[in-house]
Amino acid sequence: MGKTPHILICDDDPVIHESLGLYLKAERFDFSSAYDGEQALSMNESVQPDLIILDLMMPKISGTDVCREIRRFSSVPIIMLTAKGEEIDRVLGLELGADDYIVKPFSPREVIARIKAVLRRLGEKTQQGRSILRFDGLEINISCPNVKKGGVAFGTVPEMAAAVTRAVRESTHLPVIVKLSPNVTDIVTMAKVVEDNGAHAISLINTLIGMAIDVRTRRPKLGNIIGGLSGPAIKPVALRMVWQVASAVRVPVIGIGGIGTAEDAVEFLLAGATAVQVGTANFYNPSAVCEILTGIQKYLLEQGEQSVQSIIGTLRLEG
Ligand SMILES: Cc1cc2nc3c(=O)[nH]c(=O)nc-3n(C[C@H](O)[C@H](O)[C@H](O)COP(=O)(O)O)c2cc1C
Repeated sequence: MGKTPHILICDDDPVIHESLGLYLKAERFDFSSAYDGEQALSMNESVQPDLIILDLMMPKISGTDVCREIRRFSSVPIIMLTAKGEEIDRVLGLELGADDYIVKPFSPREVIARIKAVLRRLGEKTQQGRSILRFDGLEINISCPNVKKGGVAFGTVPEMAAAVTRAVRESTHLPVIVKLSPNVTDIVTMAKVVEDNGAHAISLINTLIGMAIDVRTRRPKLGNIIGGLSGPAIKPVALRMVWQVASAVRVPVIGIGGIGTAEDAVEFLLAGATAVQVGTANFYNPSAVCEILTGIQKYLLEQGEQSVQSIIGTLRLEG
């Protein structure tokens, strides 16, 4: 059996919770209740609902701001339910990222029908026992070739990096991380271009282009002659680029490249990375990530630091 859809009702009017709750129960939906905007945001985190019914005029944080905040990180379906029925309100609601808009007074039966329609449209298949795939964010790897432009990598031409970042940003409410290629002359220019075109965060670096030759057969060792170099050999290059980029942009930077120990990870954090990724090390040491986590905690204790946040970007350049 698939998971029963869970609906989060956000409205300051208890009568709405009662009436919608009855209908939702009858239709075998699970549901939770939030009575103000603050509660709506925290319950969205804790409950992870499949759909949110959102009143626009709620105490503490308005439904409009709740919707705006949720849409920074999530594509959870939202149906706005409100007494504000003017065209401008409906348009604003939909533009903010609502999937549907119902004006009060409403018929609970219609709300249920709309919930089902939205879930159906978004691919909800729980009744057939299949669950839907949800993503919390997207990472665009712009090292891929643009087949229409003769195989040039998106990540090496600023105009292409800008266009692909903008196109993805315009197509989703999810956070967009753009992953940069190190195979450029000026990594800071590429980082600024993707930041200016809407990247919420930047990850770097992807692999450096390398090559290896079997001297006995005198043939390339790689099937494609050239290929991506990763692992410890690229760490100094990655660290340098992360430091340059983190010093130049406002969005968070995720450090990648040759990280295999806690000390490596801490170097990236000191250089300004907000988070790190571990790739190749997993192949030669499957416990690498666990060791890195405990190693970072040990480092923080030794240094008398409270949290990872407190060491980010604290590289000392003077003295
Ligand atoms: C086997 C392998 C497959 C990879 N596949 C991808 C990929 O599909 N997309 C991508 O953006 N990067 C890919 N990478 C690059 C890594 O995500 C990472 O940017 C790079 O290897 C540097 O990090 P590392 O030294 O920790 O591996 C791959 C790396 C390896 C070793």
